[in-house]
Amino acid sequence: MKVNGIFLKLGFIMMVLFLVILLPLGFIIDRIFLEVYSEQVHQNVNQHADKLKNTLENNFPVDSKAFDYLSSTTEGEILVFDEKGVILSNSVLEFQKGQQIQNDFLQILRKGKYFDRGYKNPETNEEFFFVGRPLIVEGKFSGGIFVFSSIDKIHQLMHSIRNWIIVSIIGSIMLALFYTLFVSRKISKPLILMERATREIAKGNLTTQIKIKSNDEIGSLGKAINKLSLELNNYRTNRSELLANISHELRTPISYLKGYAHLIKTHQYYDEKELESYSIIIENESDRLSKLIQDLFELSKMEEGKVKLYYQMVDIEELIDLTSRKVKVKAQKKDLEILIIKNDLPSIYSDGTRIHQVLLNLLENAINYTEKGRIVVKAEQKNEFILITVKDTGTGIPEEDLPFIFDRFHRVEKSRSREMGGTGLGLAVVYELVKLLHGTVTVTSKYGYGTEFCVSLPLSIEQ
Ligand SMILES: Nc1ncnc2c1ncn2[C@@H]1O[C@H](COP(=O)(O)OP(=O)(O)OP(=O)(O)O)[C@@H](O)[C@H]1O
Ligand SMILES: [Mg+2]
Repeated sequence: MKVNGIFLKLGFIMMVLFLVILLPLGFIIDRIFLEVYSEQVHQNVNQHADKLKNTLENNFPVDSKAFDYLSSTTEGEILVFDEKGVILSNSVLEFQKGQQIQNDFLQILRKGKYFDRGYKNPETNEEFFFVGRPLIVEGKFSGGIFVFSSIDKIHQLMHSIRNWIIVSIIGSIMLALFYTLFVSRKISKPLILMERATREIAKGNLTTQIKIKSNDEIGSLGKAINKLSLELNNYRTNRSELLANISHELRTPISYLKGYAHLIKTHQYYDEKELESYSIIIENESDRLSKLIQDLFELSKMEEGKVKLYYQMVDIEELIDLTSRKVKVKAQKKDLEILIIKNDLPSIYSDGTRIHQVLLNLLENAINYTEKGRIVVKAEQKNEFILITVKDTGTGIPEEDLPFIFDRFHRVEKSRSREMGGTGLGLAVVYELVKLLHGTVTVTSKYGYGTEFCVSLPLSIEQ
């Protein structure tokens, strides 16, 4: 465990917390006990003194037998003196009969006042609390009494209470220590595992996963790390696949370009017509290359969220007409009819250029992959959405290809698609664009019969 690890920090915090709570608490408990016991002793002594005062005043002067009886029935020790302060009788060992009490006490009592004081026996060091009462017989000051009560007992009691308080504080701190050790181990163990896992991920071991046992914040952090490593792993696999695909896709047109350029350079053609066909191939391959680069660039911009959309009111009917006009010649060449079904569609608040790009891709595909029959473009409003479907009677897409049809470079028949000039990026672009426009795109197809793409776009996009 690290020196500045979570254990020490937690332990220190717990310790400070416990000390901050327990020390004042111990002090308060100590004070309360002391107060309560002192108050009780004070009350007892005062009550005894009052009782004794009454008894003595009624039986004044007191003979030694009566005094002995009184002192045996009184808790604490008593001392009686006459009006001059001369001790008449006492049960307090260190005072002698005939001895004079301190003058200042006598003065107070003479005035008829009471007092209480602390007293420490100089020989035994025993501590006392004592109270003084004047004895007034027939209205005349006739002496007084002191009642002593040892407070050593309180001290002993307080001593044992303090011991208990200290033992409980030490016990609580020990408990806190064990608890801290337990809690910090519980907290730091998964954190240490996560630290190790993130280091492994940083090293490139992207299959690293953490075993998650808890459902709390630490558990969700673990889940997030697991997800991160999965995502990174997927990203790495996708990136390598993509790079392999890109280099493969680039290699083909480049080898065509190189090959035909070489034929032209070395005059390996019979006539002008053949030369022209070579140049057409070179031109087509260059177009394909630039389309590939353009699409890749667009896709990467879209994935990074760097594509800026220009929102405006878009007339969908007009947009469909415009797009189908663009592909009309291509369709006519293949003797394909384009049928447009639309009625009273509202304008939508979206990016017209991007919708046009989507439709163009879908229509071009429909024409490319249909040999005979027709293409139907249908647009309708459904609740807050406009649904545009592009349906053809073409080759169709095999069921096993459907889940991957929007993936980059996924083509059903590579060679056929290449013949059509396809790079396999069109549908990936469509998918990303529709996502950007807050819509969805779905495909249904029956191999050998035809395909239908359905794009759903919101009437308005809340930005
Ligand atoms: N309407 C369709 N009918 C049958 N197959 C289709 C249809 N549309 C797409 N496909 C299949 O899906 C594949 C991917 O289409 P996508 O548009 O992404 O690429 P492409 O047409 O090959 O190339 P390009 O990037 O030039 O569009 C195509 O190669 C084709 O096999
Ligand atoms: Mg295409």
